[in-house]
Amino acid sequence: MSVKGVINRLRLALSEPDSLDKPVPAGIDPARLPKHLAIIMDGNGRWATQRGLPRVAGHRAGVEALRGIVRACREWGIPVLTIYAFSTENWKRPRAEVEALMNLLVEFLRREIEELDRSDIQIRTIGRTEDLPLFDRVELRDAITRTSKNKGLILNLALNYGARTELVDCVKTLAWRVKNGEISPEAIDEKMISGSLYTGELPDPDLIVRTGGEVRLSNFLLWQAAYSEIWVTPVYWPDFRPTHLLEAIKNYQNRDRRFGGLGQGAGQAEGPS
Ligand code: FPP
Repeated sequence: MSVKGVINRLRLALSEPDSLDKPVPAGIDPARLPKHLAIIMDGNGRWATQRGLPRVAGHRAGVEALRGIVRACREWGIPVLTIYAFSTENWKRPRAEVEALMNLLVEFLRREIEELDRSDIQIRTIGRTEDLPLFDRVELRDAITRTSKNKGLILNLALNYGARTELVDCVKTLAWRVKNGEISPEAIDEKMISGSLYTGELPDPDLIVRTGGEVRLSNFLLWQAAYSEIWVTPVYWPDFRPTHLLEAIKNYQNRDRRFGGLGQGAGQAEGPS
């Protein structure tokens, strides 16, 4: 370990441990928090343009917003947070912006890994990460390995992720299993498909938050979002704070999730819900 690493370890060991399980703020029912929260972090570019800054400044400010939201999820006891950090479509952006995003990811991991690990946060990824630049892959692999036993929060990074690509990969996996005689076509059901997606055994997202005001899913978790509650806010991602997330969760907790049944207010059968 480097001298800097040793100093960091000592600093962490000597510092007052943070209380990680803070009470859930007033107005929120801790028993009905989303088990899986997914976020489409949109509006970085517009945030920067509004301020006369390059788009990359918006992404950089977005990383700061992310730190606050990860911490809040950990403290409140949300078990899984998936964030849409880079889509399969984002490669179409100018090369300099793509490179900046890749650098920000490495910077984020290097800077935050101590605290993420200390906070019992497990890092995972979904997406075709094998196509990311080597330096990102190495940093990700180290972060995943280092935090693999942590239980406080799963921070799931969607990187080079596209829901359609995920479905293509899932179909290929199942087709090979049929070809190899492991399963019969008849055995394929919803559970098997869910389990063969990148999200594997993770629960479907209960709540999907999208910042930046656009009302669409943008190729994010299409299968898993079948019964997700969706919250769209005009707030740009770099301005998104735990108080905004609380607003989304309060609204979520007031919804009647019926999953196609009749739910709490049974009696007046409506259309599919
Ligand atoms: C969408 O905003 C945002 C992205 C494509 C990238 C999100 C990335 C980060 C917040 C930082 C990097 C992530 C990690 C994990 C370190 P946009 O640029 O499309 O905004 P616009 O719609 O206003 O143009």
